[in-house]
Amino acid sequence: MTEFMLRINGADHTVTSDPDRSLLQTLREDLDLTGAKYGCGEGACRSCTVLLDGRPTAACVTPLSRAEGREIVTIEGLGEDGGLHPVQQAFIDEHAMQCGYCVPGMILTAAALLRDNPDPDPEAIVSGMNGNICRCCNYPNIVRAVERAAALRHAEA
Ligand code: FES
Ligand code: FES
Repeated sequence: MTEFMLRINGADHTVTSDPDRSLLQTLREDLDLTGAKYGCGEGACRSCTVLLDGRPTAACVTPLSRAEGREIVTIEGLGEDGGLHPVQQAFIDEHAMQCGYCVPGMILTAAALLRDNPDPDPEAIVSGMNGNICRCCNYPNIVRAVERAAALRHAEA
């Protein structure tokens, strides 16, 4: 067992764990951060997405040893100033969720996409979100939500 210092949503957490234990298991089972979801468990669906130093990352295939010392953001920590992040608001406004299982990962991926490209066209959105799978096939609403989030961002600026 090894002790790890994890920086999650701006707070430090110390966990003692097997270094090969996944970040997703630790978040969900040890720290009660259940927003990231277990889907395939092999890096193929992205329902477990978190931001690691700002980059969307599959937590199910990220061992704790790779997460230590990096800035981890989960869906629980994405909101700004106590309110929703514009992408979260846009997903609500565009009804971009059915069962909701993929949504935390979708929102985190979209937030990173908009940070890097504040004005994505639909093709750029599809391409940027390509790794995130929605089993409910709610893709048209998801694309609209990302477009709306971009507009909200511009309105705020
Ligand atoms: S559960 Fe991590 S990519 Fe599917
Ligand atoms: S809303 Fe059900 S998996 Fe995407």
